[in-house]
Amino acid sequence: MAHEEIVDRYSRFARNAMTGRPAHASFGEGCAGAAGYDDDTALPDGALRASLGCGDPVAVADLHEGDVVLDLGSGGGIDVLLSARRVGPTGRVYGLDASPDMLKLARDNAAQAGVTNTEFLHGTIERIPLPGRTVDVVISNCVINLSDDKAATLAEAFRVLRPGGRFGVSDVVTEDGVTDQDRRRRTETRIGCTAGSLTVGEYRTLLTNAGFTGVTITPTTDHGDGVHSAIVKAGKPSVAPGFEIRPMRDADAAQVLEVYQLGLDTGHASFETTAPAWETFSSARLGHLRYVVADTRTDRVVAWVAASRVSARPVYAGVVEHSIYVHPDYGSRGLGRALLNAFVAASEDAGVWTIQSGVFPENTASLALHQAAGFRVLGTRERIGRHHGVWRDVLMIERRSTAI
Ligand SMILES: C[S@@+](CC[C@H](N)C(=O)[O-])C[C@H]1O[C@@H](n2cnc3c(N)ncnc32)[C@H](O)[C@@H]1O
Repeated sequence: MAHEEIVDRYSRFARNAMTGRPAHASFGEGCAGAAGYDDDTALPDGALRASLGCGDPVAVADLHEGDVVLDLGSGGGIDVLLSARRVGPTGRVYGLDASPDMLKLARDNAAQAGVTNTEFLHGTIERIPLPGRTVDVVISNCVINLSDDKAATLAEAFRVLRPGGRFGVSDVVTEDGVTDQDRRRRTETRIGCTAGSLTVGEYRTLLTNAGFTGVTITPTTDHGDGVHSAIVKAGKPSVAPGFEIRPMRDADAAQVLEVYQLGLDTGHASFETTAPAWETFSSARLGHLRYVVADTRTDRVVAWVAASRVSARPVYAGVVEHSIYVHPDYGSRGLGRALLNAFVAASEDAGVWTIQSGVFPENTASLALHQAAGFRVLGTRERIGRHHGVWRDVLMIERRSTAI
């Protein structure tokens, strides 16, 4: 179903609710609506009648007093109103919806509930009309499955979140490995999931590609044929104010190599003395485990981390070797530590059980950084190679995941 048809369909539901009928009189049976909530007391009837969700994202979103919350596809506003109560007068809750009728219904419901810390925005979840890094928590209830560009939607959620921000949504997902696609589509249609759900694996990949870490996908209701309602949670990595940790892009090439060369010039980072060409650098490293710290004012790369496979043998599929470099002008701000923590979380999301590397013993800062992130020294490879004509020792370090 095309985006315009989806908006027409939900506009019709909104008009139902505005005339006193349940919005979902003709809606799919997988929609739990207001029945999915433990605590809907003191909500206007209009908000309950218009509830078209498949779970209760507010219950699992860990909202705090003062948080700024964004609800993607806010419909009649039920989750906006519940969040508004949780974040209190110092917080703010945005509802975003593409249907002007839903927005009118939601504004009426907010006025009836007497809440003043809400704002309803017209727009699409694929192009969120808010500036970057202004939101603490993104929630959504049964909407991302309706998007015709889910990669763009998740990238936009990542963009608007502040570092350390949380993503917690209720959505429809399909189990990995479902082979009967016809039955899956019939079930999706029956429950009103008209644009098609992501599989669990696809959801993880899109969240990871967008830059999220700490991804969990927990099924809640089984709709049959491998299709479930689920709670999907993830986080945007934390870092010092003024910076952002995000996936490395090809457009970062020159700055990544510049930071690399500055590290090599210290003489304590690697046996290498000259940063390679981008193609050589990039082809030797895993595409999904490379991140940068960028200055948010200029988007300039000030640190990076990337990993390579240690072996093509399947037995080593979860073993990687990493490098991390911080621009020498940007030390002492905890950027390396935040980047390494984000990398560890991302590697665990990707099923990595061992991260290994080599460190010169003279590089005490790198050793301390890694030990703080759970790495241990396995031993010393004495006089293992020559650097500028001098034989050097290398400490072998590794971090074993306790989660994988
Ligand atoms: C299944 S209803 C859920 C509404 C609300 N979250 C709830 O739980 O009651 C889907 C809502 O998302 C809106 N919507 C669908 N696709 C959208 C898109 N691409 N961008 C913005 N809103 C969208 C619809 O207009 C509708 O209000």
